[in-house]
Amino acid sequence: MSKHSQSSRKAVSTLTLVKYKQEGRKIVALTAYDYSTAQMLDRSGVDVILVGDSLAMVALGHKTTHAVTVEEMLHHTKAVTRGVERAMVVADLPFMSYQVDIIQAITNAGRFIKEAQAHAIKLEGATKLTLEVVERLVATGIPVMAHLGFTPQSVHGLGGFRVQGRNAEEAMTLINDAQALERAGAFAVVLEMVPQAVSKIITQRLQIPTIGIGAGNDCDGQILVTDDLLGKYTDFQPRFVRRYANLAESCKQAVESYASDVMSKEFPNAAESFILPQEELDELNVKLAQQDDQSSGAELIWLTGSGC
Ligand code: KIV
Repeated sequence: MSKHSQSSRKAVSTLTLVKYKQEGRKIVALTAYDYSTAQMLDRSGVDVILVGDSLAMVALGHKTTHAVTVEEMLHHTKAVTRGVERAMVVADLPFMSYQVDIIQAITNAGRFIKEAQAHAIKLEGATKLTLEVVERLVATGIPVMAHLGFTPQSVHGLGGFRVQGRNAEEAMTLINDAQALERAGAFAVVLEMVPQAVSKIITQRLQIPTIGIGAGNDCDGQILVTDDLLGKYTDFQPRFVRRYANLAESCKQAVESYASDVMSKEFPNAAESFILPQEELDELNVKLAQQDDQSSGAELIWLTGSGC
């Protein structure tokens, strides 16, 4: 266990994250979509585990995040929360599950807390409706993580996977949006693909923490898609990803070794098999011989007709 993971096992809350910001202690966040990954991240001391709608691409093989449904997100969030003791679990509200009206947003957000035991939800953007939704959710007792900059649910409207806030006017909009989300009650804001200078200004101007992804290292914390960090999802690698492992290659090698051992009968060996004690095997052979004798006797009677 690393020094970081030996830190207090007390559950992470929204207050913990604000305290970390005030202390200058960076927030460590990653994504998970299943029980064993969530357990591994939690035991490694990750503070925030996001069940991101990136699962549409990474776990379900879609080209964008749009296709994932509330039911699918709930299914994965339930698996993640079962594996977590300390980290805060944040569930992404999928595309078109909060953009219609407040009732729809509150109903869907509530399901993640009630049915999947998530601690908070995340939503993208800062439209008038989104700000109202944030206010209402927070008033209802549902903590909200905001998400600005490149917001994947708007990929088509943004013209592709592009850095946001690249000129003074765009940067001003981002800063104002971040402040509006803080006023609406968001407890943190993810900044994705934003120039470092802009995320630095936002981080300095907000009381709530900023969590960066492709936003430089002045944010209060960092998040990556775990499958990118581990080199497991290889369809493409954004420039801001640092790979700490090459699981796709390690897994391929492991699976090829397994296939070769199966074909050469190297697998399974005696230690990997269950052995019947010799006396039981002897008894079994006697019983089988008796049964075979009886059935061949019966067959003889039937063939000669002497049984009629
Ligand atoms: O869906 C996701 O994984 C995210 C992170 C990349 C922030 O929104």
